[in-house]
Amino acid sequence: MTKKAEIDWETLGFDYIKTDLRYISYWKDGAWDEGTLTEDNTIHIGEASPCLHYGQECFEGLKAYQTRNGEIQLFRVDQNAKRFKDSCERLLMPTIPEETFIAACIEVVKANEAYLPPYGTGGSLYIRPMMIGIGNSIAVKPATEYLFTVFCMPVGAYFKGGMTPVDFMVSDYDRAACNGTGQQKVGGNYAASLIAHDIAVKKGFADCIYLDPLTHTKIEEVGAANFFGITKDNRFITPISCSILPSITKYSLLYLAENVLGLEVSEEDVFIDELDGFAEAGACGTAAVITPIGGIHYHNRLHVFYSQTEVGPITRKLYDTLTNIQLGDIEAPEGWIT
Ligand code: COI
Repeated sequence: MTKKAEIDWETLGFDYIKTDLRYISYWKDGAWDEGTLTEDNTIHIGEASPCLHYGQECFEGLKAYQTRNGEIQLFRVDQNAKRFKDSCERLLMPTIPEETFIAACIEVVKANEAYLPPYGTGGSLYIRPMMIGIGNSIAVKPATEYLFTVFCMPVGAYFKGGMTPVDFMVSDYDRAACNGTGQQKVGGNYAASLIAHDIAVKKGFADCIYLDPLTHTKIEEVGAANFFGITKDNRFITPISCSILPSITKYSLLYLAENVLGLEVSEEDVFIDELDGFAEAGACGTAAVITPIGGIHYHNRLHVFYSQTEVGPITRKLYDTLTNIQLGDIEAPEGWIT
């Protein structure tokens, strides 16, 4: 067993930690090179690289976990590979074959095994693949060269406190529009969200909630995560929209809520003035895992769901089921674990 890095696993948050090796591959003249691991965590690119000026960039986020018996498992990496391909296509970037994407993630995890938080600490190894358009070309057109890289770092909770309820506020800003890039994991969506996040945090909220850009009546996303609610008659509901990121965690929860917890599930409109119908609510995503939502602030009123301090029973069951699968403590649906 590899010697562990000297890290306080119990207090990990989501700050960048440099690990030993990352994967890097270049695309030029229509083809990817072989790809290699490197110790260098810096990137040297031309000043007129399209990623710097026009945001030709996309990324992914997934996690590796140590199981009780010391094995390492990746959660639904094939889904990240597919979503990455979709993001690349949307930005007119060359795609990475799904098997290359998966192999690169595995290689990086193996090369940084010492940074994998031990089983039982609540931590995991966050894997960040990304692609950027490089090569100097200042006109607004696709880059002539690309760089694909994967690095990883040990992480704990994304929202402070992890599985403790936090409050969110509804933002006046829009995140994305239909036919825009809201359904892809591209840097520009997150750059546009920084101001809304900043306002929410300065007002004492964990993050903000975005409404649909057309009518401002329906919940779209919860900051850097998706939204779900449990209705008073025990249905698992998550918003449907053409401008939200298709969260792999959200789709996993839809499956688990229906097939393990036996709930009725649906993707449907979630109107901001109909929150009374929900007994519990949460934010879900790779980074957020499940973060219970205590309350949502909207029009000078805080709508509290289950409690601002206690986790609701269904949210708790979903969290336990999901994390036990990720940690290998219960059997995963076929194909979820690599
Ligand atoms: C994730 O959940 O992996 C994300 O990418 C969200 C955020 C950290 C950007």
